[in-house]
Order: sequence, then C-alpha cells, then structure tokens
Amino acid sequence: MDNLSEQVILIIVASVFLLIVAGGIILLVYVYQRKQLSSLKEKEQLRVDFEKQILESKLEMQEQTMKNISQEIHDNIGQVLSLAKLTINTMNANNSETLQEKINNSKELIAKAIQDLRNLSRTLNTDNINDLGLLRSVEYELELLKKASAYRVELSFDGEAYRLEHKQELIIFRIFQEAIQNIIKHSHASHILVTFHYTSSHFELKISDDGVGFDTHLNGINKKELGGGMGLRNIGHRAKLIAADCSVESHPGKGTTLQIKLPLTS
Ligand SMILES: Nc1ncnc2c1ncn2[C@@H]1O[C@H](COP(=O)(O)OP(=O)(O)OP(=O)(O)O)[C@@H](O)[C@H]1O
Ligand SMILES: [Mg+2]
Repeated sequence: MDNLSEQVILIIVASVFLLIVAGGIILLVYVYQRKQLSSLKEKEQLRVDFEKQILESKLEMQEQTMKNISQEIHDNIGQVLSLAKLTINTMNANNSETLQEKINNSKELIAKAIQDLRNLSRTLNTDNINDLGLLRSVEYELELLKKASAYRVELSFDGEAYRLEHKQELIIFRIFQEAIQNIIKHSHASHILVTFHYTSSHFELKISDDGVGFDTHLNGINKKELGGGMGLRNIGHRAKLIAADCSVESHPGKGTTLQIKLPLTS
C-alpha cells in the first residue's frame, strides 16, 4: 500500500471513531435529558398532588367545622338561650324573693351563651389552624367533643411544645379529625386519650380509644400502607406527603391507637 492509501484509511478510521464517539455523546446527553425531564415531571406531579391534598384537607376541615358549629348551636347555645327565655317567662314581678334570683340566673345564662358564641366565631375562621396552631385546635375540638358526648376525653403532653410548618399542622389536624370521626362512628368507646409528644428529633401524636377495636388484617389494612375505607387510605396517603409515619394498632375488643410520627428536618 502506498503512503496515500494509508493516509486515506487512517482518515476514514479516525472519522468513524469520531462519529461513534459523537454518537455516544449525543445518546448520553439524550438519555440524561430524558431522565431529568421525567424526574422533573415526577416532582411536578408530587407538588400538584400535595397541593390537591392540602386543598382537600382544608375543605374537609371546613365541612367538619360546620358540622361541629351547627351541633354546638343546636345542643349548647340554643339550649342555654331557651333556658334563659324560660326563666324570664316565669318571672313574677310580685314575687320579689324569686325575682332577683331569676334575673341573676338569666344574666348568667346569657353571658354563657355570649361566651360560647365568641368561641364559636373564632372557629369559623377557615385559617384557624394557622392562627391557633395544631395544639390549641385539637384542644378546642376535644372541648366540643366533651360537651357534646359521653366520652371521657383526656389530653396529655410530653416535652416542650413547638409549632410545625403550616401545611404539616393542617394535614396532621385533618388526620386527627378523621381518627376522632372513626372513634365516634365505629368504636363504641368510653375513653379517648390524645397524646402529644415533642422531642428535638420528631413530633408524635397518638389518638387511642378503649372501644371495640378491629382486625387490621381482616380489613386489609397493611400497617405500612393504611388501607380499609377511604378515611384510613387518605390518612396513609397524606401522612406520606409530609414524610410522616402513620400506623394503626388495633385488636378486636382491645381498642384502637392511631399514631403519627413526623421527623423534624431542621
Ligand atoms: N377507632 C376505631 N374503632 C373501631 N373500628 C375502627 C376504628 N377506626 C377504624 N375502624 C374500622 O376500620 C374501617 C376503616 O375505617 P375508614 O376510616 O378507612 O373507613 P370508614 O370510617 O368506614 O369510612 P369513611 O372514613 O370513608 O367514611 C372502619 O369501617 C371500621 O371497621
Ligand atoms: Mg372513617
């Protein structure tokens, strides 16, 4: 082979080599971009899902608040005002002995109704959880439950209380409400215990009842992927969105405990 042909072959081999390298690089860039795009899409999907869950939680919270308010007005404030009206109706101006007592009673009853109304108007604020915080909102919800039902309700704390992020508090409060609704609907319990546990590494909330309990296996409730009805499924899904661990411990005849554990990131 002469020198010229050797050079041509060399150029061809080098060109093919360069083409392969360039092709490889283009392929790599393409695969990398595809991966980036799909991870961006995944992140966007997670964000959309998170916002949707926040919105749903807010709407459900408002619905529950409305139910609580209508019950409070009917069972409590309405009763107190009816009693005040009855007391005023039975006042006899000629009987000065009972008159003063009845006036005092009516004053007390009306003052109580005003105070209850004030408390209620605070709960009407939809961003209540933001103003009051998780702890106070839970306390208030339990106060209403105590008034309206025959449960013995106990609240216990462990550690120094702190606030969580607004969205975390909102999701946890909604989980708490669903746990309470489940107790009212299914448990036939007489005692409800709610425990707040604050540590420097995590926040934990437990809601326990001493009711009929249920078989978590029969209900198809895997402890990692809370399942069963919509309520528990939503709880599991929402807990994951704020990176919290949520589990339900229950046995027939031995009550139920729902636990949310949220690791603190900063
Ligand atoms: N505290 C509890 N005590 C007894 N049984 C419970 C309790 N919590 C849940 N369960 C059982 O687990 C099942 C699933 O609960 P879940 O909240 O998912 O659904 P639901 O309350 O039946 O319906 P939904 O919440 O969708 O209105 C309930 O039907 C009930 O049998
Ligand atoms: Mg439910």
